[in-house]
Amino acid sequence: MTRVDTFPDADALARAVAELVAEVAVRSVARDGRFLWCLAGGSTPRPAYERLATDDLARRIDWDRTHVFFGDERCVPPDHDDSNYRMAAEALLGQVPLPPEQVHRIAGEREPEQAARDYERMLETLLGRAADGSPRLGFDLLLLGMGSDGHTASLFPGSEDEPARWVSPRRASSGSWRVTLTPLVLDAAREVRFVVSGPGKAGALAEVLAGPRRPRELPAQRIEARGEVRWMVDRQAAQELPPAGPSRGTVPALDVEVHR
Ligand code: 6PG
Repeated sequence: MTRVDTFPDADALARAVAELVAEVAVRSVARDGRFLWCLAGGSTPRPAYERLATDDLARRIDWDRTHVFFGDERCVPPDHDDSNYRMAAEALLGQVPLPPEQVHRIAGEREPEQAARDYERMLETLLGRAADGSPRLGFDLLLLGMGSDGHTASLFPGSEDEPARWVSPRRASSGSWRVTLTPLVLDAAREVRFVVSGPGKAGALAEVLAGPRRPRELPAQRIEARGEVRWMVDRQAAQELPPAGPSRGTVPALDVEVHR
């Protein structure tokens, strides 16, 4: 059963995501002595990152024991308007005492294949590689967004899976290059939260969560993590979801909690 938490609006969603990050950070450091957090790109998570930079939440996180990663990056320099790293640095990373060497950005300024190989090498050093080729350890928390076409990270509709790669260059429909983590490494996460906001995502959200399984066309359906996958969405994005309840025919079961 897929768990969906709905929030009244984008602000409430941002607060809930920020609080969740702080909770998982505290839990991870208490359990393992560190917090491995993979950030989502795009625009949706920015308010949550900004909220997390505020004192009441930032103080709860042991930044000295935190490592930050990126689920994908646009192939642009780190100071470019489109850079996911730049967005996160402005909203959060530059506002908190996180050691710079613990911010593992994807080198968007490099040739995409080289940037992908370099990032995979870094991940393998930190996470270890199991006998089956997957990461031995997973991120403690993986945040993901979803596009209005059902993509996530930079796993786009129709893109081929590369079963052996952890990081891969991909071309967006606009023709621009991206570097993305693949399901092989994303699925190793202990906790996954998709964060989706706005009416423009309502159709895709209903297809991904309540429609037939079409992971090639709807890459957000490819994420089947070892850990728990939950969706944190605002009311506008949730407006086309069917009522919660047991699965009906091909419609998967949804466990929806409405937060007022
Ligand atoms: C990116 C993201 C991408 C994003 C979705 C949603 O680099 O753009 O990784 O997967 O999460 O496209 O983007 P918005 O949050 O801007 O709607």
